Amino acid sequence: MEAEKKKVLIRRAEIEKRVRAVARQITKDYKGERVHLIGVLKGACIFLSDLVREIDLESSIDFIAVSSYGRGKESSGQVRVLKDLDSSIAGLNVILVEDILDTGLTLSYLLRVLKQRQPKTLRVAALLDKPSRRLKPVEANYIGFKIPNEFVVGYGLDYSERYRNLKDVYVLHLPEDTAR
Ligand code: IMP
Repeated sequence: MEAEKKKVLIRRAEIEKRVRAVARQITKDYKGERVHLIGVLKGACIFLSDLVREIDLESSIDFIAVSSYGRGKESSGQVRVLKDLDSSIAGLNVILVEDILDTGLTLSYLLRVLKQRQPKTLRVAALLDKPSRRLKPVEANYIGFKIPNEFVVGYGLDYSERYRNLKDVYVLHLPEDTAR
């Protein structure tokens, strides 16, 4: 019995188009340079995979895993590194790749940690942005889509580890959904 209901918010064709546009912008902004993409696991893995293949520059990738959310939909507000980077970012043009920018707690923590490691430049690419939820004043340099205050899944985003494999982005409604 499926009690959860989901409704398409952004279709795969729109995502593809927007990912290509963001990659074109990155290619232009870093012309002649190398970029180092850091994906925030696990949500950003699909976005990063598509994005890096559209970037026409010398590129490298790495991943970092943090925990800020439990198994539900609300942030605990506490961020910690679960898996650190494999290599140094000193002197690199780092682009931190996030699935979604929500309260900004995760991003502000990650920016603080990464800045200390002296990258040459540090920017942020986020597939989705929920600006109305922000608790920390952080912004992404590259944004796929601004979305309303809804809980979304698909294209890497999960609810309790499910739905990451969906090709479109959906709004997820749970029974007696009052959290958001
Ligand atoms: P923030 O620290 O509140 O900005 O949250 C960032 C992280 O929370 C994201 O990287 C996601 O993993 C998760 N998150 C926030 N909103 C959603 C959502 O609507 N669906 C799925 N995950 C979300």
